[in-house]
Amino acid sequence: MKIKWGVIGCGGIADRRTLPGMMLADNAELIAVMDANKKAADNCKEKYGAKYAFDNIQELLAIEEIQAVYIASPVFCHKEQAIAAADAGKDILLEKPVGLTVAEAEEIAEYCDKKGVKLGVGFMMRFHAYHQKIKELVSSGMIGEIVSARAQFTCWYPEMENCWRQDMKLAGGGAMMDLGVHSVDLIRYITGLNVIEAAGFVGNQIFKYSVEDAGGVIMRLENGAIAYVDSNFNIPDSAAKCKLEFYGTKGSIFAQGTMSQVEGGEVEILCSDPSLSYDANQNRDTFNAAQVMVEFGNMYTKEITEFGKAVAGERDIPITVQDAIASQKVIESAYISSADKKYQCF
Ligand SMILES: NC(=O)c1ccc[n+]([C@@H]2O[C@H](COP(=O)([O-])OP(=O)(O)OC[C@H]3O[C@@H](n4cnc5c(N)ncnc54)[C@H](O)[C@@H]3O)[C@@H](O)[C@H]2O)c1
Repeated sequence: MKIKWGVIGCGGIADRRTLPGMMLADNAELIAVMDANKKAADNCKEKYGAKYAFDNIQELLAIEEIQAVYIASPVFCHKEQAIAAADAGKDILLEKPVGLTVAEAEEIAEYCDKKGVKLGVGFMMRFHAYHQKIKELVSSGMIGEIVSARAQFTCWYPEMENCWRQDMKLAGGGAMMDLGVHSVDLIRYITGLNVIEAAGFVGNQIFKYSVEDAGGVIMRLENGAIAYVDSNFNIPDSAAKCKLEFYGTKGSIFAQGTMSQVEGGEVEILCSDPSLSYDANQNRDTFNAAQVMVEFGNMYTKEITEFGKAVAGERDIPITVQDAIASQKVIESAYISSADKKYQCF
């Protein structure tokens, strides 16, 4: 069964990534696209063979055959558009972050729940073949009990005019909201551990827009492990490797370049000698070091296919809004603790 889709917001992520991915999904059919800028909608209609293009959400939502909408508009539009889609009875795949604040995200979640529509969130990096593989390796116990994790996700994002992502009122936050939320989500997803406490710092060092150009958060996972996330809008793209690291009592997993908009990167696993005892020389020879190999696919095709299966009742929602809110809470804790100089307990 093919799920009939409408797409709201035809900008960067929709046009460059998700719509091309949707075209490859066996269970998806694109019916209509909408963007506040009609030219952007017309462009996607033409490129991806939609039947309709609109600059008004109500016209798209009035099309009865549309079962699910993908909302990829700027964050400040999410609440109003998710509510409108829920009122129209459409299931919703909403881009991250869910809302401008955790409180707004919770309102969206409650409204969709009340209206009985399915709401999933677009943390597509969970579908990256390497992230799936790392999750499998961690779950198998290969590196023992997780004692530490770390994720860095950055980009170079200089001041630009009329850029919603650089305006606190329109984006809700900067490097941490935009990039750091993926890192928190991946650490929670891969370890399967909730965050129970978090504190962080945010600030502006290089760029003077109203959202932070850098931030970091330290979190305590429910098994006692401490994890670290740092995100910058002020590191040149070619100067960062976007590392994702998991350390356990029997070994570790290092990924670099996997946190990206396309599947790629490399992953190495280091396992220690199973007869490990205290070594005063702190010898760092590893018992077994290996490159992990996977077959890359298209994260967006998997995201659309899996949410489509949930719409069809063939599986649960792959990434629930409650799950996404748990990650957004950690990001918000960095803003709160940076302002109040206190840390947050969940
Ligand atoms: N999952 C990811 O890795 C990822 C990556 C990039 C963006 N995103 C998310 O996707 C969303 C869009 O980001 P983007 O980078 O594509 O932004 P963008 O600025 O490139 O595109 C946004 C589009 O929305 C349109 N728009 C503005 N107001 C609108 C409205 N009221 N109704 C409909 N369309 C409207 C704009 O004209 C533009 O075409 C954001 O929530 C962002 O956080 C997620």
